[in-house]
Amino acid sequence: MKLKILVVAGDGIGPEVTREAVAVLKEAAATGGHEFTFSERRIGGVAIVKDGTPLPADTLGEALASDAVLLGAVGGNEFNSLPPDKRPEAGLLGLRTALGGFANLRPAFAFKELAVNSPLRPEVIDGADILFVRELLGGLYFGKPREWNRTTNEALNTMRYTRDEVARVARVAFKLARQRSNKLTSVDKANVLEVSQLWRATVNEVAAEFPDVALDHQYVDAMSMHIMNQPRNYDVVLTENLFGDILTDEASVITGSLGMLPSATIGGKVNLYEPVHGSAPDIAGKGLANPLGAILTGALILRHSAGLAVEAAAIEKGVRKVLESGFRTPDLARGNTEGLTVLSTTEMGAQVRDTVKTLLVNA
Ligand code: NAD
Ligand code: IPM
Ligand code: MN
Repeated sequence: MKLKILVVAGDGIGPEVTREAVAVLKEAAATGGHEFTFSERRIGGVAIVKDGTPLPADTLGEALASDAVLLGAVGGNEFNSLPPDKRPEAGLLGLRTALGGFANLRPAFAFKELAVNSPLRPEVIDGADILFVRELLGGLYFGKPREWNRTTNEALNTMRYTRDEVARVARVAFKLARQRSNKLTSVDKANVLEVSQLWRATVNEVAAEFPDVALDHQYVDAMSMHIMNQPRNYDVVLTENLFGDILTDEASVITGSLGMLPSATIGGKVNLYEPVHGSAPDIAGKGLANPLGAILTGALILRHSAGLAVEAAAIEKGVRKVLESGFRTPDLARGNTEGLTVLSTTEMGAQVRDTVKTLLVNA
């Protein structure tokens, strides 16, 4: 099959991790006889510096002309004093809006080999496998009015959702629940916020279309505790935009590192794929970044944009095998490193690439 992928590597560790993801994708494509083409464009801080805007028109045009977009990360401390609409992050939010994907799938899977890396007890996280479905185009991120009034020293953002916006992402979550264990937890703050009451009422309405899926509702504050105490109790978890942003970084503690989490955004014109982590300025340029979240994001491209389930599974299995063999990036080697081999970003990428090739050749 043919697939045209745009890579917007962005800032900080973005280019370091996407390079490895692309190399793994190329290997999977070549071994399977598929024709993947890759183009690259600027986004975020690098685009502000070179093009004067975080989302150049040329980047957007190329994204809309592609079958899938892979983003590394955007942001950097040098842009911290800019207003939100001028920052690197605005480039990513503009891209998300233009591509139109509203359902951001963020699987958080506890690899057995990484249990020692989590501050949670192994028996708590063993077998945890949560699929967050984060609404990506609404809520506080985009609601208007929004303003920082420097005269009155007042600032405001607006959490806004329509019934249709909630219903469409809820349907995605219910359908995914059907493919897993028919369990869905919807997260809100309906004890305080009107927008959450609309959210809950709409999810309940949509639930009538999916009588086979067991639905429960949790308040976001309690949920942030439950996923640490009993992560295995949850399967598909539906959230609004900001709650999902926060809960998924928290859920990375179950997996052992934020560097492990991939994501796929579906439902729009072109799917957008990004690891969950950011540009990690504290480790950028040092070869310390964990590329596995980006590599697993590559697997999601194969599954959701290419229909290549076997190749996608080979990448996921390849990551597991590399971990089983004791290979770790520094973020995965906290504490006792006896018997482990600590690798750089590129070395880890190469390990996965070679393993995926072997798996696919022998498949
Ligand atoms: P971050 O995710 O960049 O980093 C948080 C911590 O996790 C840091 O200690 C970092 O070193 C570590 N970490 C993250 N990814 C890692 C990886 N792959 N391997 C090893 N360690 C990893 O979050 P932050 O520090 O709060 O934000 C930094 C910048 O990134 C900000 O400008 C923020 O807006 C931006 N950001 C961008 C995205 C995105 O582009 N999708 C996502 C989140 C944050
Ligand atoms: C993420 C990031 C982004 C978000 C930022 C950088 C706009 O934190 O993808 O999780 O808040 O959605
Ligand atoms: Mn985030």
